[in-house]
Amino acid sequence: MLSVENLTKQYGDLAAVDDIGFAAGQGKIFGLLGPNGAGKSTTINCISGLLPPTSGTISIAGFDIVRNGRKAKASLGVVPQELALYEDLPALENLYYWGKAYGLRGADLESRVRDVLGYIGLADRARDLPKTFSGGMKRRLNFGCGIVHKPKVLLLDEPTVGVDPQSRQRLFEMVEAERDAGACVLYTTHYMEEAERLCDSLAIIDHGKLIAEGTVAELKAQLGARDVLQLNGEFSSGLGAAVVARGIGDLEVLSENDNSLTLTMTAASQYLPAIFESISGAGGVVRETNLRSPNLETLFLLLTGKELRE
Ligand SMILES: Nc1ncnc2c1ncn2[C@@H]1O[C@H](COP(=O)(O)OP(=O)(O)O)[C@@H](O)[C@H]1O
Ligand SMILES: [Mg+2]
Repeated sequence: MLSVENLTKQYGDLAAVDDIGFAAGQGKIFGLLGPNGAGKSTTINCISGLLPPTSGTISIAGFDIVRNGRKAKASLGVVPQELALYEDLPALENLYYWGKAYGLRGADLESRVRDVLGYIGLADRARDLPKTFSGGMKRRLNFGCGIVHKPKVLLLDEPTVGVDPQSRQRLFEMVEAERDAGACVLYTTHYMEEAERLCDSLAIIDHGKLIAEGTVAELKAQLGARDVLQLNGEFSSGLGAAVVARGIGDLEVLSENDNSLTLTMTAASQYLPAIFESISGAGGVVRETNLRSPNLETLFLLLTGKELRE
């Protein structure tokens, strides 16, 4: 339903998106997970036809977004990261606007706008202006504007940023409902737990590059059973190497500086006393400990930690 091949977007010398590719199917949620600046919005904006790719191919429901933009866009719904609302038009009118933009008219438009208003939980606020809404209500309306025409491919760019827990939950349910209705959903986020909860499969991106891809289970398997142990305190340079030299299990250093030390190893909790002992033996002071079992967040740390270490 959505296919991206060898996509690159260059801003001068910066490759905001650097040769990435993935495919997402009908009735599935595909995640794009990465920190701020990873290239998620740039990717979404290329797919939606807002930005011309420097190179690469994007096809939506079989149509190339560059060569056959009109047909490709007809299947597309976009919920942008920056709210795209007319703050001085009632919620209802915002939905009418986007419905008309996608070709809905007459009774179809009327009934669909009513349905969406109920669905996004704003039926009783239909005549109110978005500028009087909370952040979560604005996000829900923004979402409604993206789905009013029942798109086959739905692009969601960090839809839960800045929303209250209740609206977040509601948004998750709405994304799942779109999937269940058969949409192909592309969901970007920098929240690992959202990707884990929602996505059938996902790609992890950093600095414009795709660094891992698969289902959540496949990605976790890639990590193995290794925990991540993050320590804050006072550490001298070379301390990580001194701790590793003690030969504690399969311990490895992911990153280190004067105030933090990130370690990874299998079954770390069993080795905590040995680790602390070797750190204090090497002159380090631990003030804070954070032990995390394998999840997408620790996988990201593992993957990017290696890059950071250089
Ligand atoms: N219009 C632009 N001109 C120059 N650089 C840009 C522009 N838009 C984004 N970038 C850069 O491209 C990179 C990726 O940005 P973006 O796609 O917005 O990341 P994300 O959405 O993952 O936070 C960042 O380094 C950002 O500063
Ligand atoms: Mg972004």
